[in-house]
Amino acid sequence: MANSKYEYVKSFEIEDEVMYPNLIVVRIYGHNFERFSEINEFEKPNDERALNLMNCCATSVLEKYPDITLAYGFSDEYSFIFKKETKFYQRRASKILSLIVSFFVSLCVSKWKDFFPEKDMRSTPLFKSRVISCPSIDVLQAYLAWRQRECHSKNQYNTCFWMLIKSGKSEKEAQDILKDTQKQEKNEMLFQQFGINYKKLPSIYRQGSCVLKTEVDETVKTHNDGALVKRLLKKVIIFHSENIASRSFWSDYSCLCKELGSFEQNMNNMKREYLKLFEFENKLLPFTWIVIRIDGSHFHRFSEVQEFEKPNDEQALKLMNSCAVAVLEEFNDIVFAYGVSDEYSFVLKRNSQLYQRRASEIVSSIVGYFTSTYVMKWTKFFPKKELKYLPSFDGRAVCYPSYDIIRDYLAWRQVDCHINNQYNTCFWMLVKSGKSTREAQSFLKGTQTLEKNQLLSQSFGIEYIMLPAIFRNGSSVFWDKVTTVTENGVVVKSHKKVVVEHSNIIEDHFWEAHPLILEETSPRS
Ligand code: GTP
Ligand code: MG
Repeated sequence: MANSKYEYVKSFEIEDEVMYPNLIVVRIYGHNFERFSEINEFEKPNDERALNLMNCCATSVLEKYPDITLAYGFSDEYSFIFKKETKFYQRRASKILSLIVSFFVSLCVSKWKDFFPEKDMRSTPLFKSRVISCPSIDVLQAYLAWRQRECHSKNQYNTCFWMLIKSGKSEKEAQDILKDTQKQEKNEMLFQQFGINYKKLPSIYRQGSCVLKTEVDETVKTHNDGALVKRLLKKVIIFHSENIASRSFWSDYSCLCKELGSFEQNMNNMKREYLKLFEFENKLLPFTWIVIRIDGSHFHRFSEVQEFEKPNDEQALKLMNSCAVAVLEEFNDIVFAYGVSDEYSFVLKRNSQLYQRRASEIVSSIVGYFTSTYVMKWTKFFPKKELKYLPSFDGRAVCYPSYDIIRDYLAWRQVDCHINNQYNTCFWMLVKSGKSTREAQSFLKGTQTLEKNQLLSQSFGIEYIMLPAIFRNGSSVFWDKVTTVTENGVVVKSHKKVVVEHSNIIEDHFWEAHPLILEETSPRS
């Protein structure tokens, strides 16, 4: 499509490719999950149904993305390991981590009822994700050993903690009793005080869960002569294993060697330096406007399956807007959002300290929150349409250093909205009038704005300017003062509310009317 003078803002986007031969691991983990599990009354210390839901979602992630070889999860987290040669999203960290967390929460929300048929999900689940890039196979094994050790020690702690609570101790007392206790002491406490043999607890709690693709021989009967034929099938399996970073685990599953690399050594004594690598996280440049732009993944297909109206489906856009409103209400640092089609840009205030400006935490939590809201609100906007294709979004963070540049960024998106909408309106009118899609394409090739407007007006009686503003201008979402006025003109109440408008945000007028949105603050304030 045509270029605009604002296009230069693209040069602020930074590449974050994980270079080959680093192995890519994406870890997703619950944020404020304790609150979520309280509200939804999960059993303590482990809720088997919740774990099974997590496992089921992880299995679907592996089924959807063939490049993921192995996944390991426990409690509210899951790590997905991509095969070494993957070119998934051209190995761009932010796209990968956002897409995986988005698809995962989409699954979580939609499969909830299969696991908790008697209760509605009472709050929006929040997950974050990050990429860990492992330079070699032994670093990957150290990572897996570390996560499994965390699973073990957290579970042991929590089992003791909740047994103490159930026996009448306060939370503070239980914490004090467990402070600085060793593994052995905890095991003894469980055994002697509560008659629990830790080793006999279900392995899903103690060892976590592995999901991987394995090749299985399936015997099928050919229907004519009844002869048995063997076929090699790829199947996703879930199981629990004592030590996922051991030689025996690796040699049991040939796909691990084939897709990740052959086993080096048992990783029992992990080097301390590795932990730093696993925890390393990029921070976004201080005192710049951070924009998180999210975009629907394969929405072309999604809108076909869900039979959206062409070129614009007003309900679909309103659902997107309603999710953006929810995001602004949840994340106080977002001052403005602009959405069009399947994308939304969220602008954080310049001096935001959200998650210490850690890129992946900000991107993943916004993408995840948006996606779960989208799935949760679907039936409200489409009461007669079943959600047949699970939506997912990817996201990225870009920093814009000055007021003019952030304005140009937003202008760029609105110009894009305008160009695409005008093209699509013409395109679908031509198709509806009997042209093939190819004919419509070549008819429109090289046409300018004026010619398109004339085509609409002369051939189809449509005045472009009269089309709904939501289609032409996209949607702007921001906090605004709303006043309630009584019949005799007295202002009774004035409060802040997130509003959705379809204004022109390229010109100065909107910004002059709302000077506080992109307010310049001093770095010292
Ligand atoms: P990726 O983002 O690269 O995964 O591809 P995509 O298929 O999502 O395409 P892209 O983001 O470039 O464009 C969004 C697509 O979503 C459009 O091309 C449309 O096909 C579809 N879409 C978005 N909004 C609407 C709508 O209101 N109605 C219809 N019919 N389609 C829509
Ligand atoms: Mg898209």
